[in-house]
Amino acid sequence: MTDHTTDLHITAWVLGIILFFVASAMYRNRNSKAKMIHMIVRLLYIVIVITGFLLYQGIMSSPTTPHMQYGIKMLAGIWVIVAMEMILVRTNKGKSTNAGWIQFVIAFLVVLYLGLRLPFGFHPFA
Ligand code: HEM
Repeated sequence: MTDHTTDLHITAWVLGIILFFVASAMYRNRNSKAKMIHMIVRLLYIVIVITGFLLYQGIMSSPTTPHMQYGIKMLAGIWVIVAMEMILVRTNKGKSTNAGWIQFVIAFLVVLYLGLRLPFGFHPFA
């Protein structure tokens, strides 16, 4: 684990969330390129999860780590991704996405709070 892993983790989720909004707007407008943006978003999910696990592994080797909080941080991160995927698929199918958006907002706030609070990297709330 290095600071670069954190940089990559943050770059991947910032880019992923921006492209997620782009893809969801394009699906709503029935833009035929929406699927392509969606595929890039899915690739970014993989980068986010891999860098997330690398950060987790590196951090777990320290005995003073608050393990429970990191466990919750990871689950919340995965929850954000699940909500994003659910919103995109359901928008494409023309189904209601309210439940997905509520989950997305809650999970994102939890992940942001925990990610920034936890000891590695910058931590404005710690
Ligand atoms: C879209 C989803 C995600 C968002 C928005 C997100 C956000 C963040 C943020 C803001 C940080 C803090 C970076 C820093 O302190 O410099 C972070 C760190 C971290 N993330 Fe994520 N993350 C996401 C997904 C994941 C996933 C899926 C995993 C695990 C598989 C994960 C595991 C971690 C770990 C272990 C850290 C290090 C915690 C620390 O700051 O000490 N994240 N993430």
